[in-house]
Amino acid sequence: MEKVTREFTSKSAEETKSFAKNLAKKIKAGEIVALYGSLGAGKTTFVQGLVAGLGYEGRVFSPTFIFVRPYKLANSKHPPARLRQANRAGKTGNRKQKGKIKTLYHIDLYRVEKETDLKTLGIEEFLADKDAASVIEWPEKIDKILPKETIKIKIEIIGENERRIKVDE
Ligand SMILES: Nc1ncnc2c1ncn2[C@@H]1O[C@H](COP(=O)(O)OP(=O)(O)OP(=O)(O)O)[C@@H](O)[C@H]1O
Ligand SMILES: [Mg+2]
Repeated sequence: MEKVTREFTSKSAEETKSFAKNLAKKIKAGEIVALYGSLGAGKTTFVQGLVAGLGYEGRVFSPTFIFVRPYKLANSKHPPARLRQANRAGKTGNRKQKGKIKTLYHIDLYRVEKETDLKTLGIEEFLADKDAASVIEWPEKIDKILPKETIKIKIEIIGENERRIKVDE
């Protein structure tokens, strides 16, 4: 499928979070989001917005030291029947997706050797989880083994509070 690039210039951490919050509506279970950007670009800030957009109400920490942090998303074995029906009838826009995400895995590969394989990392099963989605900081460490459907987001530092965010979807 052809990739389209969208660009957004963020003027504050709050704007980056709102942008990510909005993007969360489009992410479906089974998908992977790769977040590129240098130290302090705003990757974790972006994840905070993403996690909030998925309905998680707790705090988001940087998983740099623990590597993978799972966020169990609220209330959801299944959406209620009435929403499933509305969803089938196309009445809910993309607010209630079919592939509801039950867990978001926040993965930070900063401390990982380049080209370590997924099995060694132990994240294979997270990425393959069809009820979950994953968001990865420092994805260049595993670039060669990311599925080609991965949603790639690049955050560039323009100024103290300004960031350019590019989304390939
Ligand atoms: N427009 C902006 N978008 C995002 N963050 C911003 C923006 N302007 C300023 N900031 C600040 O930049 C910092 C970004 O830190 P963050 O931890 O999100 O970066 P990171 O890319 O995850 O870094 P690391 O590589 O260390 O994990 C925060 O202090 C945030 O407040
Ligand atoms: Mg970070």
